[in-house]
Amino acid sequence: MQIIRDVATLRGAVATLRAPGPVALVPTMGALHAGHMALVAEAKRRAAQVVASIFVNPKQFGAGEDLDAYPRQEAADAALLEAAGVALLWAPSAAEMYPAGFGTGISVSGVGEGLCEASRPGHFDGVATVVAKLLNQVRPDVALFGEKDWQQLQVIRRMTRDLDMAVEIVGVPIVRDADGLALSSRNAYLSADERIAARALPRALAGAAAAIGRGESAGAAIGKASASLEEAGLAVEYLERRDGRLLVAARIGPTRLIDNIAVAPS
Ligand code: PAJ
Repeated sequence: MQIIRDVATLRGAVATLRAPGPVALVPTMGALHAGHMALVAEAKRRAAQVVASIFVNPKQFGAGEDLDAYPRQEAADAALLEAAGVALLWAPSAAEMYPAGFGTGISVSGVGEGLCEASRPGHFDGVATVVAKLLNQVRPDVALFGEKDWQQLQVIRRMTRDLDMAVEIVGVPIVRDADGLALSSRNAYLSADERIAARALPRALAGAAAAIGRGESAGAAIGKASASLEEAGLAVEYLERRDGRLLVAARIGPTRLIDNIAVAPS
């Protein structure tokens, strides 16, 4: 597996990769787990060559968020990617991604508003801008994103359609731990007690989705689910139904976790 850190070298390398057939891109911020690796596995099914990127994107972190604390373990990540058959790891520095004078930002209204954007203003502008750059740098035929970050997936779909980007965006189902908690690089921040409390998150979502499926009103089901989360010691940021999905963000101590589940549409 080649590890490339500058755009000029990347251009030549992807031109060679693209010659025999389709190329897939799996963008990540590293600290890889089985959720990321499910994206790589799906990428391998869909393309001849898989490129993965690791870039902890400063533009999508707000002031006071965990940019500096975000786990960085490139050597371990590279070993996982290589074992999974990834051909190229694109791992630019912040200076390579955003050279002095960088002045462009992409903002997606509609799907990019509300939910996570409400408590993380500018977050999806940062995501859209870096994903547009990654897609232009690698120019993949297909790019894969997890349903774990449901709103992010909708933002990226909207952006690629709106900007006529010639790439297929594929969503991959959420990979969960045995106890139901969605895998996340941020789970590493949880203490043993917090990790147990976090189980309330998938449980509350599944309970509410089942209740709505049985015909209970969404308002009542969401109210009960919120109460069960608060009881488990989580601070609910939002718990909302949107587009056939029940979406939640909650804090356990300082750690912010998100999750979502399919639900009968309103
Ligand atoms: P990151 O949080 O590293 O996630 C990279 C990709 O893995 C995203 O598409 C995310 O949805 C997916 N993913 C994470 N946990 C998952 C799980 N448990 N099951 C399925 N997929 C999962 O999301 C980002 O990075 C960044 O915002 C990025 C898109 C790379 C732009 O900087």
